[in-house]
Amino acid sequence: MTIKRVAIIHGPNLDMLGTREPGVYGRKTLDEINADIAAEARILGVEAEFFQSNSEGDLVDRIHACLGTVDGIVLNAGAYTHYSIAIRDAISAIGLPVVEVHLSNVHARESFRRESVLAPVCVGQICGFGPRSYLLGLRALAGAPTER
Ligand code: DQA
Repeated sequence: MTIKRVAIIHGPNLDMLGTREPGVYGRKTLDEINADIAAEARILGVEAEFFQSNSEGDLVDRIHACLGTVDGIVLNAGAYTHYSIAIRDAISAIGLPVVEVHLSNVHARESFRRESVLAPVCVGQICGFGPRSYLLGLRALAGAPTER
């Protein structure tokens, strides 16, 4: 089966993109980034739906809701990446392919950002390319097997 429907899920503080630490995250707003992702999705022939929350529980609920509605997820869990076992367990629970993305190169920043508790249950991780990390993540997901 090929990937046809994809959820793009953004975690905490990503709603502040555009004004939040532009030296680290750039000047594009989340709406502008989502528009770029939607354009890339059209090129790839996949349907993309978008979600952002600052709450761990809402992110867990949204990941659960992906089961049976989409074929895979591009996820930037923000700071939850580094410590949310609940989000990791949600990814394991649904068994869909998830690509972890980050705008910044988390390996070149504070040491606590180097660990991702999500990476072991994701297909892979893309970081450091600014908003293009999402586009690269979508491309990677579009070519990924749908069963893990
Ligand atoms: C981030 C990196 C995280 O360490 C940070 O907490 C974020 C954004 C990124 O996209 O670079 O909120 O996920």
